Amino acid sequence: MLGLVVGSGFESFELLEAQTVTVQTPFGKASFDLGFCQGQKIALLHRHGKDHRLAPHQIPYKAQMWALKQSGVTDVIALGSVGGMAAENAPGHFTLADQIIDYTAGRESTYWGEVNMPCQHIDFTHPFDESLRQKVLDAAHSLKIFVYNRGTYGCTQGPRLETAAEVKRMIMDGCDMVGMTAMPEAALARELGIRYALLCFSVNWAAGLVDEKLDFELIKTSMDRSVQTLVRLLNEVIRQNQFV
Ligand code: HPA
Repeated sequence: MLGLVVGSGFESFELLEAQTVTVQTPFGKASFDLGFCQGQKIALLHRHGKDHRLAPHQIPYKAQMWALKQSGVTDVIALGSVGGMAAENAPGHFTLADQIIDYTAGRESTYWGEVNMPCQHIDFTHPFDESLRQKVLDAAHSLKIFVYNRGTYGCTQGPRLETAAEVKRMIMDGCDMVGMTAMPEAALARELGIRYALLCFSVNWAAGLVDEKLDFELIKTSMDRSVQTLVRLLNEVIRQNQFV
C-alpha cells in the first residue's frame, strides 16, 4: 500500500471515504487517514497533525513510520516544502531529492536499541528508493510537469529559519535545498524496509540569498498553486501504479 506523508500546504488534502486510524505503537500513538484515491486504497499522514500543531522537532517520526508499516504501507512518497539554494530549486520548482544531509540535533532517529532487534547499520548510501523515484518521474513526464530529478536536501532542526551563514555553509556542503522534516523520517523508513521517495517543492529562496526578509505567512499563500499541481501529480502516480 502507498502512504503519502504530507506537510505544510496540504492541510486540506483529503482522500475519498477517508477514515482516521489511530495506531498504538511502542513509541506512542500515530494517526493517519485510510481512504481511496484513483480507486486505490492508500494511507495519508499529515506529519504535523491535521491542525498543523506539531513543529518539525515535535513530530513523532518513530511512531508515524511504525504505524504506517504496521498498517501495510510498503511505499512512502513524502512531500516537503523547501527553501531553494540552487537555480533548479527556485521558488515554484519541484525536485525529487536524491541525497540528504542531516543537520538536525536531538531527534530520536533510530529504532535500534529500543525494540527487540539487534543493532543494524542500514545501508543509506542512496537514501531514496530508485524505483519509486522513477514512478514519480514517469507520472510527471506524462503530465508534462517539470520535476528536477536530483538534488541534495539539507535537513535543519528548525523551527527557526536558517542564518545566511548557515545557508552559505550548506551550499558549500553540497546542499541544493533546505527543509526541516525529512530526517529522521527517511532513515526510519529505511530501517523498516519501506521504500521512500522525497518530492520537494520550493517555496522561497533560502535565507540570505535574496534581500527580502523571509515571511512564512507570505510563503504559505504562495504554496497553494504548487500544492494543486502536486495533488494532480500524486493522482497520476497512483493511477499509473498498483501499490500492494
Ligand atoms: N528553511 C527550512 N525549511 C523550509 C524553508 C527554509 O527556507 N522553506 C520551506 N521550508
